[in-house]
Amino acid sequence: MRRITPYVPGKPTSELARELGFDERDIVKLASNENPRGPSAAVRQAIAAATDELCRYPDGNGFALKAALSERLGVDSEQIVLGNGSNDILELVSQAFLQPGDHAVYSRHAFAVYPLATQARGAIGIETPAIDFGTDLNAMQRAITRTTRVVFIANPNNPTGTWLPPAAIESFVASVPEDTLVVLDEAYNDYLEPRDQSPSAAWIAKYPNLVVSRTFSKAHGLAALRVGYGIMHPKVADMMNRVRQPFNVNSLAQAAALAALADVEYIETSRLLNREGMRVLEQGMRAMDIEYVPSHANFLMIRIGDAGRVYQRLLEQGVIVRPIASYGLPEHLRVTIGLPEENRRFLDALKTALAVSSEARRPHSA
Ligand SMILES: Cc1ncc(COP(=O)(O)O)c(C=O)c1O
Repeated sequence: MRRITPYVPGKPTSELARELGFDERDIVKLASNENPRGPSAAVRQAIAAATDELCRYPDGNGFALKAALSERLGVDSEQIVLGNGSNDILELVSQAFLQPGDHAVYSRHAFAVYPLATQARGAIGIETPAIDFGTDLNAMQRAITRTTRVVFIANPNNPTGTWLPPAAIESFVASVPEDTLVVLDEAYNDYLEPRDQSPSAAWIAKYPNLVVSRTFSKAHGLAALRVGYGIMHPKVADMMNRVRQPFNVNSLAQAAALAALADVEYIETSRLLNREGMRVLEQGMRAMDIEYVPSHANFLMIRIGDAGRVYQRLLEQGVIVRPIASYGLPEHLRVTIGLPEENRRFLDALKTALAVSSEARRPHSA
């Protein structure tokens, strides 16, 4: 337990407001890959309506939400496990399938919860080298041994924004031994162009050792409510339901997710807004001669040199981004795509931050 490095979330706006005496409304938070539009109007209404039943325990089986997901995804309800965020699905996998000494394989610079969930079980994390900051599936294949119980892959990956095409993922899954689970974490799936999305739910019929996880926290704008799900073989779902808390997804979250799922257009417009914001940020980086890793998600990883210092300079201007030294990337920052005005605030603040930094570094002349 003592070897576990705790997860450090993005700084909340209220915290920065307290620290620097800012008005919270003036702070721009681009630190946690949230949808800056928040949930849709229909979802807000569904949440308000669901408050009438707050004295009741939620439906522990999530019947309505699972039914809607099953129809959308073309799988049976028994193949879906609901989670308190998709983070819960990752934890449930490790609780159900990892024991002390087992191996879990994941890539360098992969999402921080994979090592956390692994270490919390006393299992051993095997980190494979990255290729151009992304997942190297060949290296992963080589790392799998008879002691490997779980392989975690995020597609797209956080914090790098790197992505693997569906064909590469499928042939990897096909190559993994049947008694090793592959967790394909698709938290940012809705931000992919439809042609780039994997038909991963359909793969489960062919590969019973595949678990696909998704979330309502990102494109659906419901990060605060904590709701996600996993799609898997019914036998795998049965194991996960045994270790799941009976009421792990609250009733407001279930009502909101149900309404969000129906609001297909909202996802489409969020994706378009994200694409446009990404273009603006990329242009800004090129104009400032800053390297970035092309991203398939709702954030951009930029190479900034002394990232800790630039992060501080941005905070002083009321802009919160994410330092990612804990991911082995001390020279990079991760910036979530915001609303157009927020993107502009970030670019202006970054210009100022870099000018101040280079000013501070420049030797004083007479
Ligand atoms: C790759 C990835 N997976 C899973 C999650 C977990 O999100 P949530 O628990 O909100 O669904 C995140 C959140 O940042 C993520 O980046």
